[in-house]
Amino acid sequence: MPACGNSTSGAVMADTVLRLSGVTAGYGPTHILRDVDLSLEKGERLAVIGRNGAGKTTLLSTIMGIARLHSGEIRLDGDRIDVLSSYRRNAAGLGLVPQTRDIFKSLSVEENILCALRGDATLEEAYALFPRLKERRSNGGAQLSGGEQQMLAIARTLATRPRVVLLDEPLEGLAPVICEMLMRTFEDLARDGRHTIVLVEQHAEAALAFADRAVLMSNGRIVHDGPAADLRENQDLLHRHVGLDLNS
Ligand SMILES: Nc1ncnc2c1ncn2[C@@H]1O[C@H](COP(=O)(O)OP(=O)(O)OP(=O)(O)O)[C@@H](O)[C@H]1O
Ligand SMILES: [Mg+2]
Repeated sequence: MPACGNSTSGAVMADTVLRLSGVTAGYGPTHILRDVDLSLEKGERLAVIGRNGAGKTTLLSTIMGIARLHSGEIRLDGDRIDVLSSYRRNAAGLGLVPQTRDIFKSLSVEENILCALRGDATLEEAYALFPRLKERRSNGGAQLSGGEQQMLAIARTLATRPRVVLLDEPLEGLAPVICEMLMRTFEDLARDGRHTIVLVEQHAEAALAFADRAVLMSNGRIVHDGPAADLRENQDLLHRHVGLDLNS
């Protein structure tokens, strides 16, 4: 991966893959994230939970270099990446499935995947993950259902061979049967040992069932960081920190 800045400073644990230190970020001069510290171990499954406007998307956008970093630093495998373009962060191993899905609506399913392929990734691999996309391969992006668009957005991101996969509310607006299928896909990805996964979700129940660890966000800050099991067993924490209940 492209190395930038000083890779020797900071006590980076051997298996820390991504680390944010003192990150304040936003859009233009506006500060949305405030003093965020977050580190992610290799293979970890992290849930990020918070109400609308809490700063979840901004957190992922800051990691990807879409939002503006005002202060602090971001390291991938110990190397500074906060000076890299989004494209180079992606090439370095970060992959974002955006909340807005961002598929090319005027291209077919197959073209959407083909133009994302990197390294040894293949079209067949994407179709094996989502057979539905193979059935729809000649359809234009605009002709897909919401669930199919989300599958395509995920397939496009995975086609870039990310080691850290950032999923921004992938279940939003989808039928329960599609949500269950997508969660099984994320389980398979997490189990294969090659992926570290950050799942931003307002479906707290699904996110906590999936995750090892969870952070709660409120007003651009991380207000709780701990084992997902603690929140599953002590819903009061979830309610107290972000005003959400498990079934909300
Ligand atoms: N492009 C932007 N320019 C300026 N402000 C923005 C922009 N995007 C988001 N914001 C503001 O940043 C704050 C955090 O928004 P963000 O989208 O990160 O929240 P979120 O937790 O992802 O919410 P949701 O659950 O609704 O997706 C909000 O106050 C929002 O209005
Ligand atoms: Mg969001």
